[in-house]
Amino acid sequence: MEEIKMNEKNPSIAIDGPAGSGKSTVARLVAKKLGFVYVDTGAMYRTVGLYCAENAVNLENIDEVAKALEDINIELKYDDGVQHIYLNGKDVSSAIRVQRIAEYASKVAAIGAVREKLVEIQREIAENGKVVMDGRDIGTNVIPNAKAKIYLDASVEVRTERRCHELEEKGISFDKNVIRKEIVDRDNFDKNRKINPLTIAKDATIIDTSSMTIEEVEDRIVKLFIGEVI
Ligand code: CDP
Repeated sequence: MEEIKMNEKNPSIAIDGPAGSGKSTVARLVAKKLGFVYVDTGAMYRTVGLYCAENAVNLENIDEVAKALEDINIELKYDDGVQHIYLNGKDVSSAIRVQRIAEYASKVAAIGAVREKLVEIQREIAENGKVVMDGRDIGTNVIPNAKAKIYLDASVEVRTERRCHELEEKGISFDKNVIRKEIVDRDNFDKNRKINPLTIAKDATIIDTSSMTIEEVEDRIVKLFIGEVI
């Protein structure tokens, strides 16, 4: 039997982990089951990345990115429990899902001004609890008093397979080695940045999803949240 780490103050669930560990799929299901709001914080970093890509903002120039932030308005809206993200009034939920934008997202996410702006929005949403929020710094920084903190992990091979499968389903052609490299490089960058890097919160429960089904992971998280000893 393992020790269960809980905090009763905020009835929310924080899910962190590397690229392709299954956070968003599982978080969405857990939120649905509990009647909570699902918040995909990666989508926010991707949206800032998209704006920078579309407006040729130089990501090496921190002041230029900080200036661009003044022209970025991000809104989350929900349609039947599905999160839609709006950039200056336009629904960009699909546009942010391309590979190039994941790389832009990771780069802008290393900049302090970007994190300050987005974390403020995230904390506002989480204030009243009842959210399942996923990202890289949710348990360590955004909702440190979340009732349950989960760190989802899986081997690089499994995560690569999952990404390839997603692309296959969408009918997008890909090179597996390129996908693998992108995952490894982005994880390294996210783990080694100075501000709020991807780390395991000391009171998080680590779940290695490599050989688990989505339903098993969902069930495990719900049980951890309600305090059932498993
Ligand atoms: O879906 P995937 O795991 O590929 O990535 P994502 O969750 O959409 O996040 C895209 C990028 O945003 C990550 O690689 C991180 O650099 C950044 N991010 C972050 O820094 N902090 C968060 N709370 C969420 C995402």
